[in-house]
Amino acid sequence: MNSKPKVAIFASGSGSNFQVITDAASAGELHADIVAVVTDKPQAFVVERAKTAGVAVVALRPSDFASKVDYEEAILQELKQLEVEWLVLAGYMRLIGDTLLTAYANRIVNIHPSLLPSFPGKDAIGQALAHGVKVTGVTVHYVDAGMDTGPILSQQAVEVVEGNREQTEHRIHAVEHELYTKTLQQLWMPTASASQGRLNKKL
Ligand code: GRF
Repeated sequence: MNSKPKVAIFASGSGSNFQVITDAASAGELHADIVAVVTDKPQAFVVERAKTAGVAVVALRPSDFASKVDYEEAILQELKQLEVEWLVLAGYMRLIGDTLLTAYANRIVNIHPSLLPSFPGKDAIGQALAHGVKVTGVTVHYVDAGMDTGPILSQQAVEVVEGNREQTEHRIHAVEHELYTKTLQQLWMPTASASQGRLNKKL
């Protein structure tokens, strides 16, 4: 069996996706070693979750650096120390710059709460509701230099609960938690997923 990829999760907020991915890795359901959380917000709840899970925290404020390049160089040094191979963005509220894009070419993924290319950027759920769509969803994609523009890995539709943002958000988060882990597993263990699929067909 190939060795587990070492992964850093980038997050700026609550970290519910961090939690689900880390729990799946600990349970052996996801072929990955979650070695770090990287955050631009040292007070974010994801930091508490990381500490509880025993995952290293890299918390650096962009405002403490002269430029985005300097900020990302500092992150990169930490990632190198930890021998991180993949970056998984989960609610990280910044565009990834050239420094990290070059160092981790084709090894950065993101989850976004809409069916891209609809509603990229901030508050995708609010954008979808403002447009009155009946169906929105979740997208997992590779990260490129644009805002939520990289090649799509997976998508799942979610029906809007009309007039109820809270319930719509709840549905979207539930789908995110399943879809992200499933997509990452297919990325890192494609053979296992395929043989599991064949097995399921036989049963
Ligand atoms: C998710 O909705 C994700 O799609 C978006 O930010 C949110 C992060 O949620 N990019 P959490 O911090 O993982 O709970």
